[in-house]
Amino acid sequence: MGGDNVDVNVSRHLGVVGRVNLGSFYTPAKYVRIASEWLLEHGIGDGWTIADLSCGYGAFFELSEVEGLHGCRYVGNDIDHDAVKKAKAAFPNVRFCECNALVDVSREKFGIGACDKLVIVGNPPYNDVTSQINQTIKNNSIPIDSDLRTRDIGMSSLLAYDKLKAEYVLVLHPLSYMIKKANFSATQKFFRNYELVEHVVFSSQEFAGTSKLAGFPVVVAMYRRKDGNGLSYADVFRTWFRTVEGKSFSLSGFDYVTDEIDKYPGKQRYTPEILFYTMRDINALRRSRTFLQERIANAIDVNPEKLAYYCYVDCFKRYAEVPYYLGNFNVPFVRAEFASISNDVTRVSMHGHPEIFGSKQEPDACTVARVKQYIAKALQGKETNNAN
Ligand SMILES: C[S@@+](CC[C@H](N)C(=O)[O-])C[C@H]1O[C@@H](n2cnc3c(N)ncnc32)[C@H](O)[C@@H]1O
Repeated sequence: MGGDNVDVNVSRHLGVVGRVNLGSFYTPAKYVRIASEWLLEHGIGDGWTIADLSCGYGAFFELSEVEGLHGCRYVGNDIDHDAVKKAKAAFPNVRFCECNALVDVSREKFGIGACDKLVIVGNPPYNDVTSQINQTIKNNSIPIDSDLRTRDIGMSSLLAYDKLKAEYVLVLHPLSYMIKKANFSATQKFFRNYELVEHVVFSSQEFAGTSKLAGFPVVVAMYRRKDGNGLSYADVFRTWFRTVEGKSFSLSGFDYVTDEIDKYPGKQRYTPEILFYTMRDINALRRSRTFLQERIANAIDVNPEKLAYYCYVDCFKRYAEVPYYLGNFNVPFVRAEFASISNDVTRVSMHGHPEIFGSKQEPDACTVARVKQYIAKALQGKETNNAN
């Protein structure tokens, strides 16, 4: 609750379209509490400036009510006039601006001095303009400085924080910004200057008003500026991420079947022609088709010698029970044991797609059970987690 009894954690003034376009899913109070603990542990207090440049109703300004953080100076900003109005009423001691945080980015614009010790907090808007979720209502008309332009305004926000040279950045963002190589590269200018000092992963379904179908992992991450010596993708690959439920996982902890096959359309053609839908990550696989009858722009040509791997992906889509935090991972498998399951997955998958492979004999229950068991093992990963 904010000072004026406004519930600052839930956006109420926007409809679905407005919420998707502005990325207005406000931060649950428990993550602001976690943020306050980390700030104190890292010595933030009197003399620091804490800014949330996309502050919504000001959920993060609850920090100003935490003992030890009273003495900080607080700066708020949002592009949404109604949100700023509510934030002003709830937090009269915060100095607010009301502008687009992604154009003409400078400390001066927000009244922050060049030498001020700055922490940027918050939950920047995420709105991947290329993703297919909510595609019909997305609009990407908000202007963004050319050096900050990416496919997602959340990634652009990280680039803006780097430009502002904040000493610390403590924000929520989709874990995919860090763990998907293409996103990491697009956000390189931020990551190369910041090291990850604290984090916890939780499900996007914790945000009020989000779809129950498409939960994705969000990380609350505290970064410390380390000019030119921040995170590399190799660091990310080795990191053991911890979730709010007490689980941990690492990109390095799995073998990926996608390392054996093509994930995207290419020029090579094979006989017989077998087509499969483009593979992005596990969450995309959940929504997409697998084997295709018709050649479409997103069709991959299956090398018949590698058919079993594609059949495995098809079985994985059907049977895998994947925790939300692995949603942006590639499809895992157990490389050392694949030869022992390849006939089973081929039988199960072919039977499931008579439109592609003709009618096949139904696999017996033991075959299906072996496939399910193998998938469960693949999801356990190959390494012992040494983070616990
Ligand atoms: C995910 S909400 C987070 C709000 C708040 N920081 C919180 O944690 O509860 C994202 C906010 O970004 C604002 N926003 C979207 N695009 C913006 C832009 N270009 N400049 C400033 N704010 C923006 C939205 O209006 C929305 O309030």
